[in-house]
Amino acid sequence: MGLAQLAERLVVVQEVAGSTPVAHPTEIGSRAGFHKGRTGYPVRPFVFNRATALDEGNTEMTVLPVTIWGEPVLHRRASEVEVFDDELRTLIADMFETNDAANGVGLAAPQIGVGKRLFVYKYANDDDVPEQGVVVNPVLTLSKVSGALPDPDEHVEGCLSFPGEYYPLQRAEWTRVQGFDGDGNPLDFEATGWFARILQHEFDHLDGKLYVNRLVDRYSKKALKQAKRNGWGVPGLTWMPGVDPDPFGH
Ligand code: NI
Repeated sequence: MGLAQLAERLVVVQEVAGSTPVAHPTEIGSRAGFHKGRTGYPVRPFVFNRATALDEGNTEMTVLPVTIWGEPVLHRRASEVEVFDDELRTLIADMFETNDAANGVGLAAPQIGVGKRLFVYKYANDDDVPEQGVVVNPVLTLSKVSGALPDPDEHVEGCLSFPGEYYPLQRAEWTRVQGFDGDGNPLDFEATGWFARILQHEFDHLDGKLYVNRLVDRYSKKALKQAKRNGWGVPGLTWMPGVDPDPFGH
C-alpha cells in the first residue's frame, strides 16, 4: 500500500469514527440512483463472538455474527497466523459455515471478529482452483489495475460487512495468490476475472480495508452517507447469517 492510499484510508476511518449514527434511516435507494440497498438493515450488538463460543466449550462448527462497518477489527491490520493447530482449523470450519449461511463468495477472519490473516472463499472458477478453500497468511501479486472509471454495471462489488449495498470498483484482472492451507501446506495459484476480484477483496480485509475504502470519490461519498443513514460506523454492530434477512437477497 502506498502512502497516498494509507492517507486516504486514515481519512476514511477517521470520518467513520466521527460520524453521527442515525438510529432508523428512512431513505435508501430513492435519492442515490445507484443504491439497491435496503432501508434500516437490522443490526445486532456484538454480544456473541468467537472467544465467548470457545469459553463455553463449543467446538462444533458454528455460524458466527458478521461484523459491520465501524467495528474496529475490520479497520485495522490483522496479524499473521503463527500456529497451525486445532483452534485454527475450528476457526476455518466456522468461517466456511458462516460464509455458507451468508451465501457469501468469501469471508475474511476480521468479518467474524478475529484479527488474523486468513480468508475462505467459495466460487466455481475457470482457473482450475478448488471451488472452495482457505488461504492463511496470503500474499497477492496483481496485474495493473485499470485507471478508467469503473462501470456501474460490470464492476459492481458488495461486502457482507457493508450489507445490502453495492458500488462499482476497478480491480486487477489477474492475481497470483501464495499462502498456506489450514494445515500449513504452501498454496500457490493464479486467478482471473471475478475470482481474482474476490481474492483481492478478501485480502484487503486483512489489511483493515473494505472495498468501500477504495471507491472513487463519487461512490465513496455515497457509500459513507449510506453508512451513516444505516447507523453504521460505530463499534459493536453485527448481523446474523441465517437469522437476519439475506442482505443481498439470495
Ligand atoms: Ni468483504
